[in-house]
Amino acid sequence: MSEASLFDRLGGAEMVDKIVDDIWINHTSNPKVKQRYIDSDPDTVKRLVREFMHAGFGGPLEYTGRDMLAAHTGMNISDEEFVAVCDDVLKALDKNEIGQTERDQILVALYSMKGDIVGV
Ligand code: HEM
Repeated sequence: MSEASLFDRLGGAEMVDKIVDDIWINHTSNPKVKQRYIDSDPDTVKRLVREFMHAGFGGPLEYTGRDMLAAHTGMNISDEEFVAVCDDVLKALDKNEIGQTERDQILVALYSMKGDIVGV
């Protein structure tokens, strides 16, 4: 029997939607990064992050946004901001009672993108 996808283990589309909503709430209330999203359209960013998670975790939606390097180039994002954003994601996972294995897997995935996001 093959192992269930991360997407299914998280709880599918409904849980991904909840996590994405909570990540947005956390980012826009986190003093370390909230200024970054001041001009963003919440529905657009949430849609793209939802698609990104589907595509990365084995869900049905296709990602239609830019790659991480293109999306963050010119922002000059710091290490501290990167950690703050990762913490916001972990907080959203904890709030939704996501298991330790899935949490660890997502943290590794986030960290692996750091080089395309920080200081670019
Ligand atoms: C691994 C960590 C991260 C992931 C997976 C991620 C993911 C994304 C995605 C999928 C988008 C949409 C791409 C597009 O516009 O085509 C995006 C845009 C953006 N990200 Fe990130 N991001 C990460 C880290 C960060 C950090 C650390 C910051 C700064 C605090 C940041 C700030 C932004 C901003 C300001 C946008 C543009 C929103 C807009 O266009 O209105 N991101 N990110």
